[in-house]
Amino acid sequence: MDRKFLFFIGLLFIADGVIAREAVGQRQPGSQESPWAWACRTGRGCVKVAKDSPVEQGDDMSNPTLSGCKLTCNTESVLWPKPRDAISLSKTLVAFHPTDIRISRISAPNSEVKSLTNEAFLIFRNVIRKGIPEAFRGRKQTARDQQRPQIEVQVSIVSGETRLEMTTEESYNLHVKTIFATAATPAAPRSTTSVSITAMSFFGARHAIETLSQIMAWDDTLGSMLMLTDANISDSPAFVHRGLLIDTSRNYVSVPVIKKIIDAMSYDKLNVFHWHLTDTHSFPFVSTREPRLALYGAYSPAKVYRPEDIKELVHYATVRGVKIVPEFDAPAHVGSGWEWGERAGMGQLALCVNKEPWPTYCVEPPCGILNPVNDNIYSVLSNIYQDMNDLFKSDIFHMGGDEVNFSCWNETTEITNWLKARGRKDNSKEDFLYLWTHFQNRSLEEVDKAYGNKQPIVLWTSGLTEEGHADKYLDKERYIIQIWTTGTDQSIAQLYRQGFKLIMSNYDAWYVGKYFDCGYGQWVGEGPNNWCSPYIGWQKVYENSPRKLIVNFNETFNQKQILGGEAAIWSEQVDGTTIEGKLWPRSSALAERLWTDPDTNWRVAEHRMNHHRERLVQRGIQADALQPEWCHHNDGYCFL
Ligand SMILES: *[C@@H]1O[C@H](CO)[C@@H](O)[C@H](O)[C@H]1NC(C)=O
Ligand SMILES: *[C@@H]1O[C@H](CO)[C@@H](O)[C@H](O)[C@H]1NC(C)=O
Ligand SMILES: *[C@@H]1O[C@H](CO)[C@@H](O)[C@H](O)[C@H]1NC(C)=O
Ligand SMILES: *[C@@H]1O[C@H](CO)[C@@H](O)[C@H](O)[C@H]1NC(C)=O
Ligand SMILES: *[C@@H]1O[C@H](CO)[C@@H](O)[C@H](O)[C@H]1NC(C)=O
Repeated sequence: MDRKFLFFIGLLFIADGVIAREAVGQRQPGSQESPWAWACRTGRGCVKVAKDSPVEQGDDMSNPTLSGCKLTCNTESVLWPKPRDAISLSKTLVAFHPTDIRISRISAPNSEVKSLTNEAFLIFRNVIRKGIPEAFRGRKQTARDQQRPQIEVQVSIVSGETRLEMTTEESYNLHVKTIFATAATPAAPRSTTSVSITAMSFFGARHAIETLSQIMAWDDTLGSMLMLTDANISDSPAFVHRGLLIDTSRNYVSVPVIKKIIDAMSYDKLNVFHWHLTDTHSFPFVSTREPRLALYGAYSPAKVYRPEDIKELVHYATVRGVKIVPEFDAPAHVGSGWEWGERAGMGQLALCVNKEPWPTYCVEPPCGILNPVNDNIYSVLSNIYQDMNDLFKSDIFHMGGDEVNFSCWNETTEITNWLKARGRKDNSKEDFLYLWTHFQNRSLEEVDKAYGNKQPIVLWTSGLTEEGHADKYLDKERYIIQIWTTGTDQSIAQLYRQGFKLIMSNYDAWYVGKYFDCGYGQWVGEGPNNWCSPYIGWQKVYENSPRKLIVNFNETFNQKQILGGEAAIWSEQVDGTTIEGKLWPRSSALAERLWTDPDTNWRVAEHRMNHHRERLVQRGIQADALQPEWCHHNDGYCFL
């Protein structure tokens, strides 16, 4: 049969009394009918073919437009991340108008959850609208449009939780069923698509709404939105902690750009925005109780995060299924913002700030480290922790703790005298570890007072977590360790055996900046490669399985101990102007690894990844290109 003929059969089938054939005539004004169609080809995917060429064996032409083919060709459609539990989707499509979707019922235990759900639904409507090209927006409805289905969404939520915590259940069920109006059903003159969402928590329901948005797509050829007529999906994440680390100290990232990062996270079902708020370079966090920190430490009065900005961001993230976990990194990685101590009669709060030659005291300029023997720092820290608790209300707190170098402490008489007074005269590594744990214990006390409970604390791998140190200095019931060594580092196996809970950010795969900023030239010299080069492609990000890392150490994988992972984009060589392209779509690869944790490799995911990247761009995210667009039009033909 002639493809051209099949094309029209296909369109009529989609229409099935619903889409107008006229819709075809509503392509962009002035354009002629395209000579191309898409075949769903066995073993490949959607492949571009000429409408008037004979149909090849193994080609299914039922939904011959690009979007129609993409939505129906594969078992998992173009969902990203792929649902983990059960998925059954129709091969049939229905055209609809975005204004015809409404939420008809929300059943939830309290009004806060209802209001979050309503907000999530408004966001969904906006996202759908964003997917419609400018030229088609606000098109007048024709008479035939009236026959498109009314889409009724019902949401049922069990728990009253309004904050995402590590114990929050994020699973969901999504059912979509379309009943077409026919002449025989005059009582129901309008076709209806019923969408039913059930979830334990709002956060699960929000994920379901995201999934719903992904079984819908704009179709350029038809000039209409399409969606699958029927779907049954049960889904839940493999890991509870699925995050991105954003560093806003090396370079500032504005609030609107942070919001866009959170938008994109929500499209990927990533749920933790780990905010590395401060570092040696600048102190943009405006602490109400200690305003001198940002006054001295921000790059400018405009490059700050005020309490009202943070409150807004925390809500913005919550309705998008994301929690913000603040990090206050200490005792190293401080400097800017702490200079006022002596002027205020409080002694030296931070030591070796901007000290040269920097390679003697720290890993990158400028240097700086807290003065743990000056008791005044603990009242300042207490103020920071209280402000952070007031604003973020997160169920875990990150205390940093990485890259402590002893050279500065060793050269500071105030410190060596303090050690002497405690019978420690050698200034040995052990003595400074003692000092460091003194700092860690004292500052933890302040965190506990500020939070009013003993919540889990995250620390980076560091000298404290090395072999023989972690079990000696750190309590595994209190501390979660975030791994940033390579994925084969023996310390991972040791910490795991000792019973610590772990978050994986092994830099060989998940340092987007040093992981996701890896692969650029050096910034402290003219070397062609920065320390963590090369650039890491999405495939390697995708293949980095925390489960396999553990199994490769010949250990039994215990889901309760591996909370998940984070990609880190340190900001030495990135700021708000380019961060989106460095994060996306590689962070989407991380998202599917942590949500689905598939046994299959990246090759199986490639066609969906290509499509998801296009979807991110449609939704306004400046995601980097992965391949020529030709590959998106010809699934399965861009492999070596
Ligand atoms: C979804 O489940 C319902 C109820 O079991 C069933 O009738 C329907 O055919 C299923 N739809 C799909 C697309 O699998
Ligand atoms: C601190 O820096 C010095 C000089 O670069 C280096 O020799 C030393 O190993 C570092 N110490 C630690 C604990 O990192
Ligand atoms: C501290 O400095 C002393 C004298 O310069 C040196 O012997 C000692 O090894 C240093 N300690 C550390 C931990 O580097
Ligand atoms: C830190 O706290 C731990 C656990 O409470 C304790 O065993 C250790 O002695 C403390 N270390 C210092 C230096 O205060
Ligand atoms: C795991 O066990 C295999 C087979 O006994 C061995 O060859 C391998 O070296 C072990 N790997 C590690 C990291 O211990």
